[in-house]
Amino acid sequence: MAFAGSAIGLGNIWRFPYMTGEGGGALFVLVFAAATLLLSLPIFYAESVIGRRGGANCLGSMRNLGGGRFWKVFGLLCVFTPMFILSYYSVVGGWSLEYLFKALGGAFASVQPSEAGGMFSQYVQGVAAPIVTFTAFLAFTCLIPASGVKSGIEKFSKISIPALFVIILVLAAYTLTLPGAFAGVEYLLRPDFSKFSVGMVADAVGQSFFSLSLGTGIIITYSSYVDKGENLVVSGVGTALAALVFSLLAGLTILPAVFAAGTEPGAGPGLIFETLPFIFSTMAQDAPVLSVVVSTLFFLTVLVAALTSSVSLVEVGIAYMVEEWGLSRGKATLLCFALTWVVGLLSALSFGLLGDVRILGEPVLDAFDRFSSNILMTVCALLGVVFVGFVMPRDDVISELGSHGKTGVCSRAVYFLIKWLCPALILAILIANFVS
Ligand code: PHE
Repeated sequence: MAFAGSAIGLGNIWRFPYMTGEGGGALFVLVFAAATLLLSLPIFYAESVIGRRGGANCLGSMRNLGGGRFWKVFGLLCVFTPMFILSYYSVVGGWSLEYLFKALGGAFASVQPSEAGGMFSQYVQGVAAPIVTFTAFLAFTCLIPASGVKSGIEKFSKISIPALFVIILVLAAYTLTLPGAFAGVEYLLRPDFSKFSVGMVADAVGQSFFSLSLGTGIIITYSSYVDKGENLVVSGVGTALAALVFSLLAGLTILPAVFAAGTEPGAGPGLIFETLPFIFSTMAQDAPVLSVVVSTLFFLTVLVAALTSSVSLVEVGIAYMVEEWGLSRGKATLLCFALTWVVGLLSALSFGLLGDVRILGEPVLDAFDRFSSNILMTVCALLGVVFVGFVMPRDDVISELGSHGKTGVCSRAVYFLIKWLCPALILAILIANFVS
């Protein structure tokens, strides 16, 4: 459940539906599934092997597995990356918190549809509001793992993941009955083979990679808590399937609503924080109470999905500080909160006070996101598979892939992919990212 929680996040809600529609519907889903099977899952397994065999946080696992100085630096990079991602992920999480309150308070129902989209720029251009919501989201995030892995993260995931599925099912059932909704289903699922292109394949690979939270030290850290009797191959498939099904349900919720309202689907913050409020506001003209209920449920889903991912991001740093520096869980959590908060301020203010600052032509938050997903995550994923494929003994890897050391043909096939296909493909992605 915790692995699924890390996988299910904002990416499934604001990127997947749009990319699938743009990338030829069912064709994109097929390419996405192939990319998950051949690339993302083997990387997931490589990181799981490091964590379970190493039995510790990212740096500790490297040490326990006999990695030299270079590999210890890799371990540290795996701790830095998620903390850096958390700094801006929490800002966006804060946006969803703000919008949950807006929805609850009937804010979309009380304005004209034409004004509902504009609320977003007004809010992010402020100073106090984005900082307050960012701080609150980060505090929620830190409260969950503070009480422990079992009683905090595990408990939270066991409740929130099934709840997310129930709410999204209810929402999808509702939007699918709207007049004109079928155009959204068609946009999402109808296979359009003319959309096949290198760019579309790159999008599918990138989305699959981001969705499984690879190259962030999360899988390493969580796997260090996984029992030896657990079959890693099965956990990976379960995680990937949960994320895919949730993405499809999010698409079946959002796209029918967008098409029924006669608007255009876009990706990113604009889809959730501008287009949908416009739709909720339009809906309120005939059915104000229903609009409040649906919009509240929707932003609750966004918030909880963001939380299940942010919890996994902060746990990497906490595990490192507890195990390496001997801090108590409480102190480590507080320190992670403080460090992330200071860096996150830059992103929280990136559309307000720092609105004129551009890094390579982009606002701070966007630049941090691009740097993390295109460089940091990719480099960490590459080093992870190289370590497992070329530094760890083959027999150790293969026995770790099964449960209780029992291996099968599956483990050997996965090993082959980790050693040969993954490094080549990730290197190609890294080069493509640098060029573009
Ligand atoms: N997998 C999450 C999503 O789809 C994002 C994420 C990436 C979370 C990396 C943690 C680490 O939104």
